[in-house]
Amino acid sequence: MNLVLIGFMCSGKSSVGRQLSKKLGWNFFDTDEMVTKQVGSSVGDIIRAQGESAFRQIEKKAVQLVALSDSVVISTGGGVPLDPENMKELSRNGKVIWLKASAMEILKRAGGSFQSRPLIDPADPRGSIERRLKEREPIYSKADLTIDTDGLEITTIVDQILKKVSLPIP
Ligand code: S3P
Repeated sequence: MNLVLIGFMCSGKSSVGRQLSKKLGWNFFDTDEMVTKQVGSSVGDIIRAQGESAFRQIEKKAVQLVALSDSVVISTGGGVPLDPENMKELSRNGKVIWLKASAMEILKRAGGSFQSRPLIDPADPRGSIERRLKEREPIYSKADLTIDTDGLEITTIVDQILKKVSLPIP
């Protein structure tokens, strides 16, 4: 079985995923990193140059590939759950965990750096985050497990996940 982290940008998926995989002694994959390695440019550049739907196609291939793994932690890009086929693939052999964060917490964690995040409007970051969160929360909430991450340190989030999934720690 895999552990699959979903949630909005800046919800801590990559940092939590890395620590979680270390504690479990599992390999770690990040779908954004897989896409970046395959294409040779950043996610932001891919979306700007080729458009969002081209990015989603490349992302979907990365999801299909990583979903074949076992005993790995997978951190997903914030838009991965929007495609039901992605979640079907990832759920087949994975427990899906939503790292829930409020719009204010996301804004705080982003620290004003929206340059690498083309889906957030730098002229109205709060409004665009709130709008997208509202659209996505019903989708994210289908996860097997939800962790409310507001105000929590990465290590605390990792500990909460480990307690809830009750997996043996080597
Ligand atoms: C996206 C989130 C990003 C990245 C891309 C699209 C989204 O990943 O995949 O910019 O639609 O929410 P992170 O959630 O890792 O920032």
